[in-house]
Amino acid sequence: MKWLPKISLLLAMTTALSGAFAAVAHAAATRYEVESAPAVCGGAIAANHSGYSGSGFCDTPNAVGSAVQFTVNASAAGTVTLGIRYANGTTANRPADISVNGVLVQPGLAFDSTGAWTAWTTRTLPVQLNAGTNTVRLAATTAGGLVNTDYLDLMTGGGDGSPTDQNIRFVGRWDTRNSAAYVPGWAGAYLKTGFTGTTVKLKQRNTIDLYYSIDGRPDIYLQNVQGTVNLTPAPLPAGNHTLRVSYRVVAGSYHGDAVFQGLVLDPGASTLPAEPARGMVEFVGDSITVGTTTSKNALTAYGWLVGEQLGLDHTQVAQGGACLVSSADGCVGLDRRFVKVSAVDGAADHDFSRYQADVVVINLGTNDVGHSVSTTQFQSAYIGLLQTIRSKYPRAAILALKTFRGRYVPQTQAAVQTVNNAGDGNVFFVDTDGWVPADGLSDSVHPNDLGHRAIAAKLAPIVAAHLTTGGF
Ligand code: GCU
Repeated sequence: MKWLPKISLLLAMTTALSGAFAAVAHAAATRYEVESAPAVCGGAIAANHSGYSGSGFCDTPNAVGSAVQFTVNASAAGTVTLGIRYANGTTANRPADISVNGVLVQPGLAFDSTGAWTAWTTRTLPVQLNAGTNTVRLAATTAGGLVNTDYLDLMTGGGDGSPTDQNIRFVGRWDTRNSAAYVPGWAGAYLKTGFTGTTVKLKQRNTIDLYYSIDGRPDIYLQNVQGTVNLTPAPLPAGNHTLRVSYRVVAGSYHGDAVFQGLVLDPGASTLPAEPARGMVEFVGDSITVGTTTSKNALTAYGWLVGEQLGLDHTQVAQGGACLVSSADGCVGLDRRFVKVSAVDGAADHDFSRYQADVVVINLGTNDVGHSVSTTQFQSAYIGLLQTIRSKYPRAAILALKTFRGRYVPQTQAAVQTVNNAGDGNVFFVDTDGWVPADGLSDSVHPNDLGHRAIAAKLAPIVAAHLTTGGF
């Protein structure tokens, strides 16, 4: 009878070890080109739109049921992430049913417009595979047929949840110079990831207030938490989950320690790639853009709402009390600080290679009045900011909002006109008259929750229009 405990100990050790290995493994991809057997293209292998990999892509007939099938090999049974590279030059989504080994695992997976047949992007999807050979089939569910399909990547070995884990998307201004501790700057930065297992915890340094949402459920607010912070007091059902975390912005009288040091997952569990967004929108402003006086601060501000409504990544490069002009009496001026990773004095430069914004919305001028900024100074600083943003984001549409209190309006318009005249036609003045309803303010300046929702309702279609016309 003595051998029984030994075997179970051995089993327990093996499980623990494989768990440990799974947790530190990083994603490695095997690529299956659609033009190479054993892949089957239910149409023609074409090469008439550049940017594909290998020698071509699969162009299927415009019909329901048009299909592409890949045969892939998994070294072990378990969760992998599929990365399907495609182009969709129409403006419409071309959904596809995804089947693995003949079993429908994801009905109607969206393949949104990429803006052009030469613009390729990768759609990811976690699936379970058997050990050995598996088929992965995409079948069109609408009359448009499938998108043009380039290849399928099979990504194995999820991430370990550390700050450098490629599966975690750090959206907005994050200082990523210390690989053990990523620090969000400004307001409205957040992180997103997928993960497997039943629990997730955050590793925090000192106390912080934060919002988190699991599987798209309403955000939960935690205050004064530190150390290993359990986000799943009730374990989740086993399977694939998503997480979004946003720290309360450290500014004004609030001195929390917004620092991401990693996730703790179940033994053997791993992160999965976060769902990609359709694009990125940045909102540049002051306390109004931060969402000051609203119920969830940055999360109930118009910028956050617009981004969420449109399925975009979004962030608020904003700080309470900020001005456009870095004034002599010390106002935090976005004219200079837009390029910084945070609002604090001496902040590092933001690394603009981390992402490109598709749309930038500016709402500045409300506070400059109180810092004796002249109209001449304001106008030239506005032109400067527009030029700075353009130098960082060559493709972005830039929207200059009329401040809700109507401050420096002729100068804002003149600045837009100046850059338009100089050849930059992708900069627009946006009249906001009547956007904030009478019951939409919590004081003389700041919109309340209702006011922010009203602003978002007006702004979202404008941002959306500039996504499609701006080359997205
Ligand atoms: C165009 C395009 C094709 C694409 C097709 C479609 O004809 O050139 O590459 O497959 O549209 O609508 O699917």
